[in-house]
Amino acid sequence: MSYSLLKDKVVVILNNSDHTPDKKLTLICELLKQEVDHYDWVGFYFANEEKQTLHLKTFAGKATDHTVIPFGKGICGQVAVSNSNFVVPDVKAQDNYIACSIDVRSEIVIPLFKNGTNIGQIDIDSNSLDPFSQEDEEFLVWVNEQVADIL
Ligand code: SME
Repeated sequence: MSYSLLKDKVVVILNNSDHTPDKKLTLICELLKQEVDHYDWVGFYFANEEKQTLHLKTFAGKATDHTVIPFGKGICGQVAVSNSNFVVPDVKAQDNYIACSIDVRSEIVIPLFKNGTNIGQIDIDSNSLDPFSQEDEEFLVWVNEQVADIL
């Protein structure tokens, strides 16, 4: 499915007043995992500023042990402090990386800003090597902007 069609589907999910915000996030994870071949795990983590930790709120894909990640640890924890997109074409080339599954080859993490504050992130793992394009990055920035509006 094209990213343009996917955007339409994301908007439909977010505008559905029958669903809670958490349910909407779950449906977005499921949609992205199902429709994009190179997305094998999709999740949203949110920050606890007091504890300086990220907490997994919702995901599609295999269950992970890493439901709480300290700021600074792994790709996710680094994005919590850098406020920048992090595209990892090959996870084996990263020292500060938390492995969730031996199948994962690459990862993309995009921060989610609400009123200018980095409150969480979308995290996507892929079982393919170097699959993420500029188009993925722009699409996921857009997804997070839409999600921020319902939080
Ligand atoms: N690989 C991530 C940990 C989260 S899992 O991908 C679900 C990291 O290095 O932060």
